[in-house]
Amino acid sequence: MDLYNIGLGNNDLKTRAAASQDHIKFWESQAESLYWSERWHTALEWNPPFARWFVGGKTNASYNALDRIVQKNPNKKAIFWEGEDGATRVLTYKDLLVEVSKLANALKTLGVKKGDRITVYLPMVPELIISLLACARIGAIHTVIFSGFSAKSIRDRVDDSKSKIIITADGGRRRGTLVKLKDVVDEAIQGLDFVENVIVLEHTHNPISFTARDKKWNELVSSMEPFCDAEMLDSTHPLYILYTSGTTGKPKGVLHGTGGYLTHVFSTFQWIFDIKDSDVYFCTADIGWVTGHSYVVYGPLMHGATQVMYEGALDYSTPARIWEIISRYGVTILYTTPTALRMFMKYGDDLPNSSDLSSLRLLGTVGEPINPRVWKWYFTTIGKERCPIIDTWWQTETGGAMISPLPGLETIHLKPGSASRPIPGVCLSIVDENGKAIPDDSKGYLVIENPWPGMLLTLWGDDEKYKTVYWSKYKNMYYAGDYAIRDKDGYIWMLGRADDVLKVAGHRLGTAELESGFVSHKAVAEAAVCGIPHDVKGEAIIAFLVLKDGYTQSEQLKKDLVQHIRTTIGPIASPDQLYFVTKLPKTRSGKIMRRLLKALAQDEKTGDISTLEDEASVDEIKAAFAELKQTLAKS
Ligand code: WTA
Repeated sequence: MDLYNIGLGNNDLKTRAAASQDHIKFWESQAESLYWSERWHTALEWNPPFARWFVGGKTNASYNALDRIVQKNPNKKAIFWEGEDGATRVLTYKDLLVEVSKLANALKTLGVKKGDRITVYLPMVPELIISLLACARIGAIHTVIFSGFSAKSIRDRVDDSKSKIIITADGGRRRGTLVKLKDVVDEAIQGLDFVENVIVLEHTHNPISFTARDKKWNELVSSMEPFCDAEMLDSTHPLYILYTSGTTGKPKGVLHGTGGYLTHVFSTFQWIFDIKDSDVYFCTADIGWVTGHSYVVYGPLMHGATQVMYEGALDYSTPARIWEIISRYGVTILYTTPTALRMFMKYGDDLPNSSDLSSLRLLGTVGEPINPRVWKWYFTTIGKERCPIIDTWWQTETGGAMISPLPGLETIHLKPGSASRPIPGVCLSIVDENGKAIPDDSKGYLVIENPWPGMLLTLWGDDEKYKTVYWSKYKNMYYAGDYAIRDKDGYIWMLGRADDVLKVAGHRLGTAELESGFVSHKAVAEAAVCGIPHDVKGEAIIAFLVLKDGYTQSEQLKKDLVQHIRTTIGPIASPDQLYFVTKLPKTRSGKIMRRLLKALAQDEKTGDISTLEDEASVDEIKAAFAELKQTLAKS
């Protein structure tokens, strides 16, 4: 086994010791790093499975992210922004505070009150960060939707959260094309009368239609005062809803609070990235995902970090774009995904080798298991064996990293492909089907034993579903939905999802959600979706479809169905292959035998299939997979 001893990092042995003695006291001491206008009276109220941290305490996310930095260093650079077309902007913390205050005042004049929901559908521009912090400043709950989602997906989310305001832009740029965001929003909210206003940022200046409820961002904020007091909110006040896919057809609104979440993000950002005043940090995640919330918005800003924000594809308009950005801004810390790394690897070593990457000192990864081969490439070709690879495991629901090497805290020892050990103050186990801890080196389900500060408050509007999804498989243990192994050194090896959730290019998608997308097409009677390993995207989407009587398979129908998924869910959900079959493999009680599909997809043994209704269905699927593998082998 390779063991990479990286002699950097602090050597603080006290933190882990304190955390293992009393994890609640430990998190309490971490919370001291934030600004509180009133101190909490109870560190943790734990009414399983509902955790409320720092109860009685009052704070504000925007105050922690801006005012505290501005008081010390107003001209500190917050954002180096670069557009795909080469445009650039630089914003200091003072600039951000002014813009956030103006927008917060504008939201108040539009009647936004504490607790109101605001949907944000923007490209990766500074106004996205400004929008989130303006909401947080006045206690409105932001809910960001990734700009790769369709009108239908936006509608579902806006309707579920009952957002009063939507913040969007005329357009965004991606791979040289213009994405007409405002048009998508107009389609999404037709007939949703509770949406009072749409704030439109003029970013790409493409022509768009305006109605009485639309407000131009610039016109709206131009007359606003550049000061807005941050409202001190209960620690347990909701900060945001972020929709994510699960095993059911409908995405779930993960709800995060304020004080606990910020504490988790503040501490982990320091421990993971060992952030220094001189660093230039670059996280390639879109703010539409949780990584962007925690480690583009709240984590870096609360630490007064300087970061690069980039709108567009990392390999556009040249495959060397990412390396050019790194040398242009002198990036010291890069945080990206295994999918992006696999794509860069495919372009070959010449591109990174001919770029100046000497500023880099730390390399992070998140979102999917990283293959040891990719890990080693990242370590050698990008980091020149100087920079540690920080593989961070976590979820939308956990709010912040849970398993990671922590150079900001301790000397780290790395094993390629393992995310190392749990962070201090978090207690994990690997258990069997019955919740019993299993021996080292065997595969089981990852569970979290104690509440942690970044833990979701609940699912928006659905406490029952929250209980069922995370807390019903095991008693008093949070079920993460991932397979994992703990080795003899206590290192955790993440082995991918144990449920029907896919990770396609790092994007989280539920098979049930995709299947409902397919059956909403008039030609489809039944659908079964599974993922198969893909050498860049991690997983590719494969769909097996049974057509309704009267419809015949054709290449045109395949194209229509792909388009249908793009419009019902979004371009990120485009299936890689569609197969028309006459029957799906089902149990006699009518359930699709997913275990069988997965096994066939991964060339594993199918196990006991005696409960299968009709064995002939397996042959059809087997034939489809055989054909698929041939196609993949050729490509
Ligand atoms: C997967 C992303 C292996 C995992 C922050 C988890 C990972 C899901 C890693 C959550 C990692 C995330 N190694 N797998 N370092 N990081 N995952 O909610 O399956 O988009 O359950 O949050 O991503 O995805 P989500």
